[in-house]
Amino acid sequence: MSEPLRPIEWTGSAIRVIDQTELPGRLVRIDLETVDALVDAIVRLAVRGAPQLGAVGALGVGLAMVQGQREGWQADRLGAEIDRIRAARPTAVNLAWGVDRVRPLVERGADSVLAEAVEIVAEDERTNHEIGRHGADWIQARVPGKVRVLTHCNTGALATTEWGTALGVIRELHARGALEVVYADETRPLLQGARLTAWELAQDGIPHFVQADGAAASTILRHLVDVAIIGADRIAANGDTANKIGSVGVALACHDAGIPFMVAAPESTVDMATPSGDDIHIEMRGDEEVVNWGGVRTAPLGSRAHNPAFDVTPARLITAIVTEDGVLEPGLGQVPASRVASAAR
Ligand code: MRU
Repeated sequence: MSEPLRPIEWTGSAIRVIDQTELPGRLVRIDLETVDALVDAIVRLAVRGAPQLGAVGALGVGLAMVQGQREGWQADRLGAEIDRIRAARPTAVNLAWGVDRVRPLVERGADSVLAEAVEIVAEDERTNHEIGRHGADWIQARVPGKVRVLTHCNTGALATTEWGTALGVIRELHARGALEVVYADETRPLLQGARLTAWELAQDGIPHFVQADGAAASTILRHLVDVAIIGADRIAANGDTANKIGSVGVALACHDAGIPFMVAAPESTVDMATPSGDDIHIEMRGDEEVVNWGGVRTAPLGSRAHNPAFDVTPARLITAIVTEDGVLEPGLGQVPASRVASAAR
């Protein structure tokens, strides 16, 4: 295995990130020194993935404070800039979670905020390894021999702070010598699977195929895989899960084929304030991502695009939700809400 990839760093004056729009061609790190630069990086998916958005959201509060001191902002300007970071993308709850976790520390100064934000980065790394172990244990208890996995979008180090969530489970299986192959959906329209997941798998020498999103259902129904593992952007209180567009199709095929469909995510992705998937705000993105290919118009001029960035998989289609705390089986009626209720009893 190659050296761990750590895509997020606080330099003392900037958030240093990998510009993911350049991958797999070039590994370029950029320094985000202003709130404008951070929001732009989030919107154009230079930084992305729910847990990574949580980390940069928290660091972003510190960044806003440092910029505000430099430029002599009034207090109300600081509040507005923090709100702008929090709202840069709506679906992944982790972004708001990261901002909200450090915001109470603002009155204590930038150093306190940044210390907590740096702790969030370290915590996410530890969390991912826990998720990986729980997920791999659950799969190995059910799938004999080497495991063939289908995954969708990118949930690796590039979507987190190191290791990954769904890709962390895959990495853990590989480290245990229990992984046969990964089918990585290319993930239209922005190709997080083909560009980013395949890049991470190749870096680690993990055998994989990239397949068109349209191949996923057939791969599952032909029993070419033993399990599908995805990440999450928001898990509602009833277990309904928002993730990259195309995820629910994978879940439906798994349900039909009797293959486990696993969601791997940190507890920070569980949003108890959102009762069900119906209440999740799905980000809609621009037409140009769908009607063009490689900068060239492919759909007729005048055709509009339907471009939701995420979909919602109902809890009943999810076999297992894996967090750092363990595994829930929504298909058997276990949902985050009932766990919280039973913990409180
Ligand atoms: O639009 P993106 O690339 O930010 O979407 C990312 C996903 O949907 C991931 O699957 C999710 O955030 C989990 S990342 C560990």
